Amino acid sequence: LRRGEISSTMGHSAVMTCPNKTDATMVTWKISPKIGGPCTLGYRADQKKVDRTNCSDRVNCEFRSNQSYALEIQQVGMADEGNYSCEVVTQEGNFHQMYQLTVLVPPRLSLYCDDHRNPVCKAAAGRPAAEISWVPENNSMTETDSHDNGTVTVLSRFTAHSTDEKTVTCMVYHTTLNETKSIACSSSQSDLILYISIALGFLIIITFMAVIYYFKLHGCRLCHKTEPPDTSLTHSLQDDTTEVEPYTTYVQKENTIYNSVSDLTVGQNLP
Ligand SMILES: *[C@@H]1O[C@H](CO)[C@@H](O)[C@H](O)[C@H]1NC(C)=O
Ligand SMILES: *[C@@H]1O[C@H](CO)[C@@H](O)[C@H](O)[C@H]1NC(C)=O
Ligand SMILES: *[C@@H]1O[C@H](CO)[C@@H](O)[C@H](O)[C@H]1NC(C)=O
Repeated sequence: LRRGEISSTMGHSAVMTCPNKTDATMVTWKISPKIGGPCTLGYRADQKKVDRTNCSDRVNCEFRSNQSYALEIQQVGMADEGNYSCEVVTQEGNFHQMYQLTVLVPPRLSLYCDDHRNPVCKAAAGRPAAEISWVPENNSMTETDSHDNGTVTVLSRFTAHSTDEKTVTCMVYHTTLNETKSIACSSSQSDLILYISIALGFLIIITFMAVIYYFKLHGCRLCHKTEPPDTSLTHSLQDDTTEVEPYTTYVQKENTIYNSVSDLTVGQNLP
């Protein structure tokens, strides 16, 4: 019995070979996935007949003599993980080959600056877990988060506040990819944004005050314009009353009443 380990990237195809024998009378592939029921692909040379039991359409084998009876899985998915065994029956005896299939998932990479201006490198939903390192080499905090589907998210935070380096590089190592990404979370950049915001704030306040001042001036000018007619009207009325003879006594009387009332109130207010 021969054993082997094979890994395939999710979405790609995987090929597993059987012991290469000519004159095989029977070939059987047995698949025991981690999830779900087993599947069998069998071939009988004398009947030239293929039996498929429970196998997905993505799983196929070309049963032809002088072939290695290789099993091919198209668009490998997580559910395809498991044990694959092949048995070839010949006149000389039975030959076995077994494979353990592991599905690899490339992580999704992202590099960004967090709220504290620390560069954060993230390799999301990878299988197996990705490894992250930094240039320059420095203190970093790594968090790993395992998901139900077997993938792992690795997050590494670059924690060097006193660094003079403006650009840092994150390197992600994974069986399916090696990638480097660079970022600058330098304070000068965010300081610039802060200064611009402050300047804009001041500009808005100044403009607002200028507008208020302008309207105040404008409003006062309107007041002066409306006030004079009122005074002239009262003057003309008084002039009229003095000119018209019969009303003079009445006006004088009223005035005396008002004067007496005002005298009274003044008298009451005094201690
Ligand atoms: C696959 O085979 C290994 C040993 O060869 C065994 O430990 C494991 O349980 C098997 N897995 C499945 C899904 O049958
Ligand atoms: C087919 O799959 C079902 C479950 O999906 C399982 O119970 C059954 O044993 C399988 N049949 C064979 C012949 O492997
Ligand atoms: C990634 O890098 C390592 C070491 O530098 C190398 O052994 C491996 O083959 C590389 N893998 C890929 C997919 O480029």
